[in-house]
Amino acid sequence: EKRFTVSSFLKAKKNGEKISMLTAYDYSTAKLLDEAGVDSLLVGDSLGMVMLGYENTLQVTMDDMIHHCRAVSRGAKRAMVIGDMPFLSYHVSIEDSIRNAGRLVQEGGAHAVKLEGGREVLDKIKAIINAQIPVIGHLGLTPQSINMFGGFKVQGKNEEQAKKIVEDAVLLQEAGVFSIVLECVPEGLAKLISQRLDIPTIGIGAGKYCDGQVLVTQDMLGMYTDFVPKFVKQYSSLCDLIKESTKKYIEEIKEGSFPAKEHIFKIDNEVLEKLY
Ligand code: KIV
Ligand code: NA
Repeated sequence: EKRFTVSSFLKAKKNGEKISMLTAYDYSTAKLLDEAGVDSLLVGDSLGMVMLGYENTLQVTMDDMIHHCRAVSRGAKRAMVIGDMPFLSYHVSIEDSIRNAGRLVQEGGAHAVKLEGGREVLDKIKAIINAQIPVIGHLGLTPQSINMFGGFKVQGKNEEQAKKIVEDAVLLQEAGVFSIVLECVPEGLAKLISQRLDIPTIGIGAGKYCDGQVLVTQDMLGMYTDFVPKFVKQYSSLCDLIKESTKKYIEEIKEGSFPAKEHIFKIDNEVLEKLY
């Protein structure tokens, strides 16, 4: 099947078709999600929490991102692979930002990059796009700003915040991003932004009027429960499945029922006898 691309994003919006996105951090999961037909795989810096057990995303490095991006790229045949730019990889200078975005493409195999923020990072976004790397924006609750926000809180509830998010969305579109992730904003605000923009919005905790949806895969499958945000729907409870299977495995080792006949390799008796 043909690759989902930047044009597919824009075409989907034009045709009123919703876009599906999930995070992925490794080869075998990426392959499964791709085979299930997801349009796009985000190698999110959420891997810091989900894969590496950090408290937030601020400790994630470019090398972490590239490592996981490469694995996901190998597993994704149809889905578009988006590499998330980690904290400090697009804040220092324009040159640095192009280099780091380029590394996600060149070393990580990503088709596009995502970065957080609005007017503050416009110059970096334009420079990355000029380097022929498609960019997806990210507004609302931008987790790399956690220390400025003072926690994971819904953004854009008051007029001042809401106005800034709308303005930033328009600025990002004008700068040339092909899509914008809206995280943890009120549904009505996400609706207004989605209607105002020509590019698709991808919501997470932003309601049903977005042009697409993204969730962290481990949240969606119910296998990461350190923190379950209100906007998460668990389509499975892999936590239970994994724990039950693991308990059974341990039990069978202890009682000697695993491995069984069908799991073993044989040696000729004559060969074995010579060793005794
Ligand atoms: O890192 C991530 O997983 C993300 C999504 C939640 C949008 O940025
Ligand atoms: Na992220």
